[in-house]
Amino acid sequence: MTHASEQDRVLIFDTTLRDGEQSPGATMTHTEKLEIAGLLDEMGVDIIEAGFPIASEGDFKAVSEIAANSKNSVICGLARASFTDIDRCWEAVKSAGKPRIHTFIGTSPLHRAIPNLSMDEMAQKIHETVSHARNLCDNVQWSPMDATRTEWDYLCRTVEIAIKAGATTINVPDTVGYTAPEESASLIRRLIETVPGADEVIFATHCHNDLGMATANALAAVAGGARQIECTVNGLGERAGNTALEEVVMALKVRHDILPWTTGVDSSKIMHISRRVSTVSGFPVQFNKAIVGKNAFAHESGIHQDGMLKNAETFEIMRPEDVGLAASNLVMGKHSGRAALRDKLKHLGYEIGDNQLKDVFVRFKALADRKKEVYDDDIVALVGDTVDPA
Ligand code: KIV
Ligand code: ZN
Repeated sequence: MTHASEQDRVLIFDTTLRDGEQSPGATMTHTEKLEIAGLLDEMGVDIIEAGFPIASEGDFKAVSEIAANSKNSVICGLARASFTDIDRCWEAVKSAGKPRIHTFIGTSPLHRAIPNLSMDEMAQKIHETVSHARNLCDNVQWSPMDATRTEWDYLCRTVEIAIKAGATTINVPDTVGYTAPEESASLIRRLIETVPGADEVIFATHCHNDLGMATANALAAVAGGARQIECTVNGLGERAGNTALEEVVMALKVRHDILPWTTGVDSSKIMHISRRVSTVSGFPVQFNKAIVGKNAFAHESGIHQDGMLKNAETFEIMRPEDVGLAASNLVMGKHSGRAALRDKLKHLGYEIGDNQLKDVFVRFKALADRKKEVYDDDIVALVGDTVDPA
């Protein structure tokens, strides 16, 4: 039998509703959470981390209802290393067709100091809590929080304990976005090679974006043998956010030649969910955000627009429809050239000759110098007096 790390399929674990919602100010209403979970399920996300049931009555209700309404996705809830948390989590997820309990504890020296547990005491706690979760549910994920700053020997020891206690997925979080791609790959690879029982579980990668490397680190972890990527829509999440779902899905699709793994996500649903998450969380998407930013498929410079009109592949590595956009956007501004203006006029219903185009182009440039973006109405006004609609 091939080990999970040799398989092509990478599971997508979305934590928009848990880690994403932990982002200060990103709180969503009950109805909004149900809507986002429905969209995630529909687009083929394998596992939805629906919330942290012990955190509040509202979170418990949301996770419970998401679980009850789930169709294909595994529904997961988060729980600290405590029986009370785990029981509450199980109560919330148990009505799902495919429930999962995700329990975690901070294993790095900084995190161990908070509950003031010795290494042995923490090891014992991991054994007890993972065993307890496994007695409730046959799908248990365990995370050593701040894994990337945990001593290597202790990380191996705790992962081994969690596997022996029944964890089916081991998530390796880069909680503070501290790692870099080579280290991310080798950490997973070495864990799989070293820890007894590692070949019986799936390893997951959970990266934060504090140094802007979350997507690169997640993909590197997959190269190292991880077969579950934890991510959020628009990269929503604590501080600088988490790995962005749209980035890993599209990177695996567009560069399949060098990233030979697949996901089950229907990428044409990306733009819609991105906009909904932005609206309900109140977090705007930055204009130049990869894949889903307003400018990700927009072109203003003359050279680029000319290239795009001749062959879209000159300046686009993916088709807009692959992410659910109708078309690329040739933005009319001071950098635009004659070819783009002619094309725009054609779309607006004006077929004009070279001389007229020359005249309109001069006036268009003068206007574009005064305005950041020249809209369709501006262009219609510009040509209205001198040119007859075709
Ligand atoms: O970043 C992190 O370590 C987490 C854990 C709870 C998995 O979100
Ligand atoms: Zn996290």
